[in-house]
Amino acid sequence: MLKRLFSEEEIANTVKDLARRIESDFANEEILFVCLLKGSFVFTSDLVRRVRNPSRIDFMRVSSYGNRMATRGNVEIIKDLEEDIENKNVVIVEDIIDSGLTLTRVRDMLLARSPKALKICALIDKRCRREVEIEGDYVGFTIDDGFVVGYGIDHAEYHRNRPDICVVVEEDET
Ligand code: IMP
Ligand code: MG
Repeated sequence: MLKRLFSEEEIANTVKDLARRIESDFANEEILFVCLLKGSFVFTSDLVRRVRNPSRIDFMRVSSYGNRMATRGNVEIIKDLEEDIENKNVVIVEDIIDSGLTLTRVRDMLLARSPKALKICALIDKRCRREVEIEGDYVGFTIDDGFVVGYGIDHAEYHRNRPDICVVVEEDET
């Protein structure tokens, strides 16, 4: 079953707060938001509508093989950016930082393209699960271990359309 962790209202307030922090860091400079598909599509759409800087949005989809030991941390680009990010202010928008392996690889790939600035904005940080050293510059919620869904985040492709964020709990845990 699903147990609610964050309501629509809590999420909206947190997104607003993240947007304020991004705005103040980038003054009135132009920002290119990189939405990591699919999990951050809802988060990105809410976040960018709260940021008043001149902004552009691009999408990237990567597959990670974080669970397979042989290819641990390998990240394959399924859909690359269409924008050239050289000398641009880039903000990567990610749903969840878990082990940190995916974001580390994405960050390194994008850094190799020489952006002017590269920041990470993550809605959820599962800090206790981290396996590599990487921090979000803007983090919405920090949670303990647990599998979450909703607000764009899926379990086997379901629940992305939930407006709130829930944790999946086994029946006998309740
Ligand atoms: P990492 O490489 O271990 O940091 O994996 C991060 C990615 O795993 C996130 O972008 C999510 O797509 C996925 N993920 C991690 N935890 C969860 C969860 O609780 N629910 C759904 N997806 C998750
Ligand atoms: Mg993801």
